[in-house]
Amino acid sequence: MDLTWNAQTWRLLPDRALFWQERKTLILSDLHLGKAQEFQTLGIPVPSSIHYEDLTRLEALLKMHTPRRIFILGDFVHSNRFEHPELASAFRDLHGDRQWILALGNHDHRGKEKLQAWGFDQIVTEVREDGLVFCHDEAQSDQPSVNGHVHPVHKFGRGRERLRLPCFVVGERRLLLPSFGAFTGGFEIRPRRRERIFVSNGQGVVEIPHSATD
Ligand SMILES: [Fe+2]
Repeated sequence: MDLTWNAQTWRLLPDRALFWQERKTLILSDLHLGKAQEFQTLGIPVPSSIHYEDLTRLEALLKMHTPRRIFILGDFVHSNRFEHPELASAFRDLHGDRQWILALGNHDHRGKEKLQAWGFDQIVTEVREDGLVFCHDEAQSDQPSVNGHVHPVHKFGRGRERLRLPCFVVGERRLLLPSFGAFTGGFEIRPRRRERIFVSNGQGVVEIPHSATD
């Protein structure tokens, strides 16, 4: 699904990422790597493989779109309480000849120095380009911004028939990404005035009709 937003062209990808065509930049947010291991320490048997599957999806996106740069808009890790050497090694294997920029999220800040081990070219608070701000939380932004943080989902149906799908939210001032990680939960978003909702079912991205209210 291609979209023009703030005079640039954006492809909303079913794998819950965004491709900025003019800048050949892949943008994603909220991987929350290591969350499974955190749950395991509490006795909750979430398999670690869930994070490797996320990295496999990321690798496929790199092959398909050949970005020059990758922006990760925060909550790259779930917490820095633990080291994750094997996950870090699998992530570094994706690096290749491209630039990786992490804009820190609220989960990343605890123990920021540990993030250096993951092989980013830059770790920043935000990126500013073409009149846009790329950062974790829209509250940090004074210009139109591309953000993560919220983990937006759209709800269909109710009760046992309820289905929640990750979504992009596109308004004049913000372009909100769904969380990239599979083990991140979701927040049922209520679009603001004139905002559009695009859901991903993993295969495609479709706009929810009339999600934009005048
Ligand atoms: Fe997050």
